[in-house]
Amino acid sequence: MSTPYGRFDDPRREYVVTRPDTPLPWLNYLGQDDLFGLCTNTAGGYTFWRDAKLRRLTRYRYNNAPYDLGGRYLYVRDGETVWNPGWKPTKTPLDRYECRHGLGYTQIVGSKDGVEVELLFFVPPGENVEVWRTTVRNRGGRPKDLTLFSFVEFCFYEALNDMSNFQRTYSIGEVEVEGSAVYHTTEFRERRDHYTLFACTREIAGFDTSRDAFVGVHNGLHEAGVPFAGAATGSIAHGWNPIGSHQVDLHLEPGASETFAFFLAYVEQGEQPKFERPGVLDKSHGRAILERYREPGAVDGAFAALQSWWAGILSAFEVDCPDEDAQRMANTWNQYQCLVTFNLSRSASFYESGIGRGMGFRDSNQDILGFVHLVPERARQRILDLAATQLADGTCYHQYQPLTKQGNADIGGDFYDDHLWLVLSTCAYVKETGDTSILREPVGYTDTPGSGEDLLHHLETSIAYTLSHLGEHDLPLIGHADWNDCLNLNCFSTEPNESFQTAGDVEGSRAESVMIAGLFLSACRDLAGLYRHLGSGADADRLDGAYDDMLAAVEEHAWDGAWYLRAFDAAGTPVGSSACEEGQIFIESQGWCVLGGAGRGNGRARRALESVHERLATEHGILLHQPAFTRYHPELGEITSYPPGYKENAGIFCHNNTWVHLGWCLLGDGDRALEYYRSICPSTRSDVETYRAEPYVYAQMIAGRDAATPGEAKNSWLTGTAAWTFVTLAQGILGIKPEYAGLRIDPCIPKGWRSYSVTRRFRGVTYEITVSNPDGVCTGVRSLTVDGAPVVGNVVPPSEGDDTVVVDVVLGGDLR
Ligand code: GLC
Ligand code: GLC
Repeated sequence: MSTPYGRFDDPRREYVVTRPDTPLPWLNYLGQDDLFGLCTNTAGGYTFWRDAKLRRLTRYRYNNAPYDLGGRYLYVRDGETVWNPGWKPTKTPLDRYECRHGLGYTQIVGSKDGVEVELLFFVPPGENVEVWRTTVRNRGGRPKDLTLFSFVEFCFYEALNDMSNFQRTYSIGEVEVEGSAVYHTTEFRERRDHYTLFACTREIAGFDTSRDAFVGVHNGLHEAGVPFAGAATGSIAHGWNPIGSHQVDLHLEPGASETFAFFLAYVEQGEQPKFERPGVLDKSHGRAILERYREPGAVDGAFAALQSWWAGILSAFEVDCPDEDAQRMANTWNQYQCLVTFNLSRSASFYESGIGRGMGFRDSNQDILGFVHLVPERARQRILDLAATQLADGTCYHQYQPLTKQGNADIGGDFYDDHLWLVLSTCAYVKETGDTSILREPVGYTDTPGSGEDLLHHLETSIAYTLSHLGEHDLPLIGHADWNDCLNLNCFSTEPNESFQTAGDVEGSRAESVMIAGLFLSACRDLAGLYRHLGSGADADRLDGAYDDMLAAVEEHAWDGAWYLRAFDAAGTPVGSSACEEGQIFIESQGWCVLGGAGRGNGRARRALESVHERLATEHGILLHQPAFTRYHPELGEITSYPPGYKENAGIFCHNNTWVHLGWCLLGDGDRALEYYRSICPSTRSDVETYRAEPYVYAQMIAGRDAATPGEAKNSWLTGTAAWTFVTLAQGILGIKPEYAGLRIDPCIPKGWRSYSVTRRFRGVTYEITVSNPDGVCTGVRSLTVDGAPVVGNVVPPSEGDDTVVVDVVLGGDLR
């Protein structure tokens, strides 16, 4: 879909932003290993190493006006005119502007008065260096004498302290300059063994390191003093706010161009002595990086390495199907977003400050579901890291800091769904890889130093926790909340300064969650399957028993007549019932009960999803519940604190829509599934002025029909929607399902699709799968051949030996 603001360039896997004043900043991410950067279409954003809170390299101001201010800026001075290729911060009108957001890179081209400047920002794989390849071209008819000024503002690493503790920070800033290299060395003298380097591969004509000198005490970045005056001052920062800026003077004849690079590097000193002489940083690591990038071809080689890294990653899954949006999202943007959410969980975006949340327990476990096929080894490590933040009683730290891997309770604990997601992620990992050795990894419990219980023990502890925390309807207790952080049935908060997730007492509470019951059914079934695969029939039977008991409780106590209840509150009153005044039907329990296998033999699954369709489905996606809460209900918590139609109060919370999509896939309605899939798919949107967020990645939330601004998206990028929409499309609709015994082929497509094909890497082998649908059905495999030989059933067994396996599937039968 192309709009006044941009278009997809599918062959290049890029989104092309064609004007800088997008309805909101449109963001991309740089980096794939340890060094990460946020980069908007006007070059805004910041850079950090591993942890946006604890190791922030460049500064960013939250909640700013304008919204996106601060970033990787290059000022171009041409005569008396000063402009930026990315438009900001000067906002000098450009003759031409284009921003291409690609996989791990952003390229911005701006031109004015015959001068074209192209900036390419990226982090090469395996490196802690952010490169800004800079090309300046004289496209006009006269010689040009240009002065360029680069600009970054350094952060003092611990971002919260940096943003709040000025009585200290204004006195500690330190830098050194050597040639074209600015070294930011604040706190290096004492406890840090790392510094930030901002350098230029080309000779420079001057530099600045003091913000007061470069910008001016009374100026904004749009009127920074030095670029407008035309000459760097050679300032050395002593305290206050260190920055890095280079002055580059260029003379370009008509038609001439010059290419060089700036780069920002995070350097750990390691074994190297800290100082070469008292008070002077030993710069050998920094000099070596500069030498390396000064080699001809080094920058282009690094960019080529990035591109082939991504090509390799995305070759794990590629589809060719009749739906252009689904194809584009699956092949590029959705998998890309899965990798970013895997790396960053919910920590750093334009809606997550990087100082609030780290790696979420439930979030990261879900992220693995959409990521595990991309880099299974990384998923393995993440599962073990997450499990290591579980407590011996089965509860979990709700988040941990990526730098330290230590869990903390800053944003609460006792969310009684958390532990169950670990079962789902682990089973998904074993199904994907066949690697059962992960189950025997000694992980231990975080509150029991020296304990070495293995991962399988953690899974059992998770199941046992839920079973020992059931309420009076034999449904799981909810704790501070379940997946819906805002359904706080034990909070009863009347104090505006407390957090809904930490306030209130869960001890002895009666409140139960039907959504957790559905999730438990899925987890139990998954773990039973794993035990069967391991040959532990008795354990599998034990879990089947637990499953049956939970299912019986759901069917006996949680059916409201036309849908499943959402919960029982602390007084034992149903939540999400037709008897309620507001909030009569909720999406999460319909999705999870159906996915858990409830309502199968009795028609309730279909009835529940039809109720969702009648009451919650809209053109922009499915509402979280209806009717919206119009007043604050202390017995329900934060959900009723939001204005109607926003966030958890009857917004379209895209993440949970996918559970209904998958539910329809289970029931076999591929037309409904794809229609719903498309309703929240960002690339289908033409109403960009309403939607506002990026067209290439999912947003957490789209305002619902009760909102003043229905259809408006917020909180893009870091959302579980990424993983779950990929699972919906890849497994639910296209039906390529990893199982312990191989790849099950179980499509649920629109009847109108005549054929499609998928290339899927699975356990090191590439499967070329073609599905044809001669009878125009949604589901049901009639025949399946592997390398031409018929297979009984619809599971492709893991190949032994071959690199590529050809699978032909014909629909029109009843194998599912
Ligand atoms: C946010 C949280 C997630 C939660 C969801 C619903 O996206 O990161 O953990 O499940 O909100 O409240
Ligand atoms: C808020 C948000 C919710 C998020 C939670 C995290 O309550 O509405 O989406 O998960 O904060 O603490």
